Amino acid sequence: MIRILIGAQWGDEGKGKIIDLLAQKSDIIVRYQGGNNAGHTVKFDQEKFVLHLIPSGILNPGKICVIANGVVIDLEALFREIEMLESKGIQVKGRLRVSEQAHLLFPYHRLMDQLRESQTEKKSVIGTTKKGIGPCYADKMARVGLRAGDLRHLDYFKDRLWSVLRERNRILSKIYKHEGVSFASIFPKMKSYRSRLMNYLCDTPLYLYEAARKGKDILFEGAQGTMLDVDHGTYPFVTSSNATVGGAIAGSGISPTLIDRVIGVVKAYTTRVGEGPFPSQFPSDLMKLIQTKGEEFGSTTGRPRRCGWFDAVIAHYAIRINGIDEMAVMKMDVLSGLKQIKIATAYRLGSRLLKEYPSSIRDFSRCTPVYETMRGWSENVQQVRRWKDLPLNAKKYVKRLEALMQTPIKILSVGSKRSQTIFL
Ligand code: IMP
Repeated sequence: MIRILIGAQWGDEGKGKIIDLLAQKSDIIVRYQGGNNAGHTVKFDQEKFVLHLIPSGILNPGKICVIANGVVIDLEALFREIEMLESKGIQVKGRLRVSEQAHLLFPYHRLMDQLRESQTEKKSVIGTTKKGIGPCYADKMARVGLRAGDLRHLDYFKDRLWSVLRERNRILSKIYKHEGVSFASIFPKMKSYRSRLMNYLCDTPLYLYEAARKGKDILFEGAQGTMLDVDHGTYPFVTSSNATVGGAIAGSGISPTLIDRVIGVVKAYTTRVGEGPFPSQFPSDLMKLIQTKGEEFGSTTGRPRRCGWFDAVIAHYAIRINGIDEMAVMKMDVLSGLKQIKIATAYRLGSRLLKEYPSSIRDFSRCTPVYETMRGWSENVQQVRRWKDLPLNAKKYVKRLEALMQTPIKILSVGSKRSQTIFL
């Protein structure tokens, strides 16, 4: 079985927990886009793990994890993460494969991201994680990037790094009035990572092809979410990779004809970090309540996430773009105690009623949601493990989401622990 897991909102849907659960039935777990801007949180045995680059499947003993070609890798962050896992007794060596074609993210990418965000005019700020993701993907597309496999050939790597850095430093000094980054501050470090990286480097498209032919269970772990996709999201307030299903194909080299299922993940409400329009955003009092109750603070940057009602227009759009077969709905427990719960079912744009997401950011930023209001439930649902034990109004809410999304909901999450899950 080959499955792709996709965030169907603006990221932070709770994919880490679902990946961790599905990984138990998988042989191989693959990250295919994004970089250490992602933060996948998994809680078990009283421990909390936040993984930024390595697939969350690594927490399941014996599983093989792949960082595929579509990911951008900050080697410093990668080795920090490997050390963190190993210090907690989780074996990484022999279980991690890193694509030779994955692009490397350097300190100058981080610097350019930070400088652009701080020096651009307010209306052009994206609210990035400042991890260098955009500049690294820009270099990839401009064909001036360096890839993990280039480190095999140190002379070639050194030569290319030298010339790319010279060009980048010119931009840093002319546009951002920054002194730039020295070759001496990067190259020796890269050289020191080289032998460790060789333990993990692999022709991952071939590895995945052969694993698929042998009938292995492969789970593709998406990062961010559909609305942050560079093509299909709320451009320009997006990340720089394809967080939709096509990203899994191009970002790993797997053939689309091999994909069996696409699983979507949504929260029972909506959140977004960073700038950009968000029609169903809560008023400030409700925002504070849900932020606190749902611990809605970015796992990578610690920034508070903006929170709002469930947006069925967005969810339906994500289902269409990704061909989602089934949904997991997360954080149902956070909605306990609300007297009324709203769902955005359409948008109003001037005199028009829109049932579909408008691809123009100008239009989207002027949309106001049309809400349907349902009765809430007061009971704490964190201990509920069976559908029949959920409060009636919670069941009605889930059924309504299912009807609006026209997609079966197969998993309901009622807390952050592995055990706090209802399988439908
Ligand atoms: P970047 O990916 O750091 O360039 O940030 C671009 C946009 O994507 C910003 O709005 C970030 O807040 C958002 N973003 C990036 N990664 C994540 C994530 O893992 N979860 C939620 N938002 C993210």
